[in-house]
Amino acid sequence: AIDVKALLSGTGMTTLDPGFGNTASCRSEITYIDGAAGILRYRGYPIQDLAQHSSFLEVAYLVIRGALPSAGELKDFADQLRTNAPVPDEMRTLLDALPRNGHPMTLLAAAVNTLAAYYDDSADPTDDDQVETATIRLLAKLPTIAAHIHRRTSGSEPIDPDPARDYVENFLAMLFGQGTGDTELDALYTRALDLLLLLHADHELNCSTATVRVVGSSDADIYGSVSAGVNALFGPLHGGANQAVLEMLEEIRGMGGDVDAFLEKVKAKETRLMGFGHRVYKNFDPRSREIKGLAADILARQERPDELFQLALELERKALADPYFTERKLYPNVDFYSGVIYRAMGFPTNMFTVLFAIGRLPGWIAHWREQRKDPATRIARPRQLYVGPTERPYPAQG
Ligand code: ACO
Repeated sequence: AIDVKALLSGTGMTTLDPGFGNTASCRSEITYIDGAAGILRYRGYPIQDLAQHSSFLEVAYLVIRGALPSAGELKDFADQLRTNAPVPDEMRTLLDALPRNGHPMTLLAAAVNTLAAYYDDSADPTDDDQVETATIRLLAKLPTIAAHIHRRTSGSEPIDPDPARDYVENFLAMLFGQGTGDTELDALYTRALDLLLLLHADHELNCSTATVRVVGSSDADIYGSVSAGVNALFGPLHGGANQAVLEMLEEIRGMGGDVDAFLEKVKAKETRLMGFGHRVYKNFDPRSREIKGLAADILARQERPDELFQLALELERKALADPYFTERKLYPNVDFYSGVIYRAMGFPTNMFTVLFAIGRLPGWIAHWREQRKDPATRIARPRQLYVGPTERPYPAQG
């Protein structure tokens, strides 16, 4: 019989599981994934249904609170986010002082970390009311901070949040000003960004969410835990992949558009096919299906066919016909097409992962809060297998 007490006290069996591919560190009710069948559900609702019928804000509410909001609850939630969107003047000064040539993800992580200092009245992880306030502040202020960083790093004046606008519409207005001048295109961009954020809202114990939980397990406050999540997301093997996909497509364009030559480099393990492969999905990533259709809609509105999108389509077609990729179960993931869409919408490449962070924020918050209420939570403290030298005699002195 398994000695549960011994396991919990850390004196039981130790497994070596690099990357934690087979280790569950908690029980969770937030997101269900069946990687083999390509199933993703938030709180039991299939991602396809949510993508079709819900907004990002409804899904953020669902992920964090466990149920879809009524019309009244959604209105209250949206109103709270509108009211809390501005950041304090001192923080604006801080954002203005950050290096303009810094990567927006580095600046975002730094800014989120300081929220605990600006709002120390909501940084106590043991106080339910404070956690509630911090939840709203994080959701409300992250787009404002991200837009401020984007405006500064691209050399333009920041734009204040507009309390008359909805969440995603407001974010786009803070980023780009009054829009494209074409109301139909603006509506399409708002819907596209809303859907992309929704599709990123949670993904169980991915690297950044696991990080948020690990940091939170020491009873660190939610702002600091989320800031750690932003840093984990920045890595090119995780959220940085959407930027890396675009850089890869540009590299292929620089090779005269020779997709076959690039795939040979991948097969020789000189580089990776960014936007392909996933730790959990081994047949297809259900999010990538939703995104591919969206990419086609957006790119159909472009005046000229997008060369990088055409390269992405060719790359996908050729990789999916190549046994090297199918044998290793490598398929396009959520980020294969998201970068192409962001680029068409006018985002600079270095903002792509910031958009991912805004989408993933509800998931980080939900996991941090769930862990806090779980009586089984213990400080995260993995073991290691020591493989260094056994005891060595200290060299004789003198
Ligand atoms: N391109 C080429 N080969 C790959 C790729 C890829 N993108 N991904 C995995 N492989 C190969 C590996 O070389 C390995 O081959 P081998 O058995 O011959 O050695 C095999 O497939 C298994 O690869 P692992 O690295 O063990 O797979 P793991 O589950 O650890 O990695 C990951 C998953 C990190 C997503 C990986 O597929 C990858 O690097 N993809 C590219 C980056 C990317 O798109 N990341 C976004 C992930 S989704 C997200 O964060 C939203």
